[in-house]
Amino acid sequence: MQIFEKYLNNLPIIPEVASKIMSIREDNEDYSFKNLEEIISIDPMLTSRILKVANSALYSRQKEITTLQMAIGLLGFKNIKSLVLLLTASQFSKKLISDDFYTNFWKHSIVTAFVAREIYNRNKDRADQDMAFILGLLHDIGRVALFNADPEGYKKILDHAVKHSKKILPVEKEFLKADHQEVGAAVMKHWNLPEIFVDIAREHGNLNVFSKHKKMIRNITVADMISEQLGYGSEEKHGPHFFEQIRKESDVKDEDLEFFLKDYNAQMVEDNLFKECEELFLIGKK
Ligand SMILES: [Fe+2]
Repeated sequence: MQIFEKYLNNLPIIPEVASKIMSIREDNEDYSFKNLEEIISIDPMLTSRILKVANSALYSRQKEITTLQMAIGLLGFKNIKSLVLLLTASQFSKKLISDDFYTNFWKHSIVTAFVAREIYNRNKDRADQDMAFILGLLHDIGRVALFNADPEGYKKILDHAVKHSKKILPVEKEFLKADHQEVGAAVMKHWNLPEIFVDIAREHGNLNVFSKHKKMIRNITVADMISEQLGYGSEEKHGPHFFEQIRKESDVKDEDLEFFLKDYNAQMVEDNLFKECEELFLIGKK
C-alpha cells in the first residue's frame, strides 16, 4: 500500500459531495431526489455550476432553470449524477499543473466516455448509459496519479514504451513498481467510489476479467480501443487481434463497429454535451 500512497497524496481530493452522490440508491425516487438536493446544496459552487450547465445549450429549455429542485426535476436523477461527476472531474483537472499530457488524457477519456455511452444507447440499454459514460471518463485515472507524482519521469516512461513498442503496463511496473491500473483502483477506493469504479480501473484493457461487472468492463475496454482507432488514443496501443478478441465478448456487433468507425466522429463533435466537455476540460478544438 505504501507505494500507492505517494501517488494518492499528489492527487486533488474528490469532494465528499461527489462520492456521496455516487452512493445514493436509485430505487426510491422521492427519497433520492430529496437526498440529492440536500447533498448538492451544501456546495454552492457546485449548485451554481449545475444551474449554469443545465441552462446552457446542453439542455436547451424554454424556461430558465433557477433552482436546484427544478434542475433535478427536469434533468432527472441520472443526468444530475453524471453532471456532478463531470463537473467534479473538470474542477480537479484545473487544479493539476497544465501540460499537454492532460489535453491528450482528457480528450482520450472524453471520447471513450461518449463511445461507451453510445454502445449502451445502440443496445437500447438506457439504465447503464450514464454509468458507462462516467466509467469511460475515469477508467485511466491512475495515469493522472502517476503523471502528477513525477511529470518528467512519467513522460520518459511513456516515451520509452512508445519508442520500443512495449506495452505500457509492464513498463510502468518496471520503472515505478506500480502500474496505472493498480494505482487507478487505489484512487477510486481512496475517493470512496462504488466497487464498479475500482474494478474498471483495475481490469480495463484486460483479456481476462474477474470482476462481477464483466460486461461493463468489456464494453469500456472496447470503447477505449475505438477511441484509439478514431484518433483519440492514449499511449496504450492494442493490436487488431486483441481488439477482436475483446470485441466479440462485448455488446459491439459488426454493424455497431462500422457505425463507430465511419459515422460516429461527425455525430459526436456536434453533440452539445461534447462541446460542453471541451469547454469544461479546456481542451478546445485541436
Ligand atoms: Fe488504461
